[in-house]
Amino acid sequence: MVPITKITVCGGGNGAQTLVAIAEGNLGCAVDVYAPFADEAGRLRTGIDAHGGLEAQGAIQARGLPRRISADPGDVIPGSQLVVLIVPAFAHEPILRQIAPFLDERAWVGAIPARGGFDFCAVRILEEHRRDDVGLFGLQTLPWACRIKEYGQVVHVLGVKRTVDAASRPADRIGAITSVLARMLGMHVGTAATLLALTLANTGQLIHPGIMYSLFVRWDGTPLDAAPLFYQGLDEEGARVLAGLSADLQAVRARLAAVLDLASVRPLLDWLLRAYGESIADSSSLRSAFVTNRAYAGLKAPVRQAAPDRCVPDFSARYLAEDVPFGLAVSRSIAALAEVETPTVDRVVAWAGERLGKDYLGRDASLARIPQNYGLTDLEQLLAFAAEER
Ligand code: NAI
Repeated sequence: MVPITKITVCGGGNGAQTLVAIAEGNLGCAVDVYAPFADEAGRLRTGIDAHGGLEAQGAIQARGLPRRISADPGDVIPGSQLVVLIVPAFAHEPILRQIAPFLDERAWVGAIPARGGFDFCAVRILEEHRRDDVGLFGLQTLPWACRIKEYGQVVHVLGVKRTVDAASRPADRIGAITSVLARMLGMHVGTAATLLALTLANTGQLIHPGIMYSLFVRWDGTPLDAAPLFYQGLDEEGARVLAGLSADLQAVRARLAAVLDLASVRPLLDWLLRAYGESIADSSSLRSAFVTNRAYAGLKAPVRQAAPDRCVPDFSARYLAEDVPFGLAVSRSIAALAEVETPTVDRVVAWAGERLGKDYLGRDASLARIPQNYGLTDLEQLLAFAAEER
């Protein structure tokens, strides 16, 4: 890999601001920011000027001073060896389309986190621009739990994972990109064999819709006194739903094991212990691993205010609106191509779809990042795509 002299961070939210705060110090290179959304470029500039840089506080302490911040990709993308998208998955496609014409030769472009099917979308856009020289990467999850405290000034990092997996396309360049990512993030970065493996290894698609389902499947519409604890509120029945979702994905892994390296698609409890390690006080069961994980302590379910002292579940929050069309529905569609039954996934996707008013596996399939939308309509085509034969 060529030496890194400049990277561009795309996005202006919690994760993007955390990366801006740490990347310059960790990589020792210039950091530019592409912030095309609303008035974010101006607000970021104002905040950073006022504070003399962007500061991370809490579990990470660092400060970064971006060189340029722009809503125009032509200002910041050229000259970047690495371009990192840290935005919700629904923003990947518009941003990739905006930056593609400005990418340097042999640049790397990736998403943190990748969520499901990032490669389907990115390969299509790069093909449209005839840019097969560009490398793609994805991370299995965001390495931090983080929230902006003061826009453009201070971001609070609540927790840091111990390790996170990355995948690349071409897959055989994984060593080069993981060493840069590990330096940039200041943490251990493991590897997944392919971006397809990373799609199936995405645990957010299990945890977020699975817990939403468990908390609210019996909700009768009566406003709540307070938002329930999201992770610590997990009961035995909820843990069984999560175990069922994980088992469905393990069935896909088992079915495809002979033709794809899916070692990175870990059972949920294994993943939790690997990602959080000592943050988990009691690892004896899936439920105890969730409710005794310090990194999850106090986090609440998403709600909307319904009256002065009352709230209702917010089904439009990311936990369903991102993690189903860019997560669970993608894995469900891969399972369908592999002819694997996924009863718990089906139940949760159907419930989430009702709550969102979307039928992601039927009428509204065009809104989900499923392989079938990218011309991958049978298992042979999917495997050929994963093997970079098309
Ligand atoms: P965020 O909500 O802070 O990011 C929103 C940002 O995305 C906006 O500020 C904007 O810069 C960009 N954006 C949104 N819509 C856009 C559009 N249509 N076009 C262009 N840009 C657009 O999100 P956050 O918290 O930074 O999360 C990023 C990803 O990481 C998401 O996939 C999230 O699910 C995931 N994640 C976040 C965690 C956290 O603690 N913040 C924890 C685990 C995962």
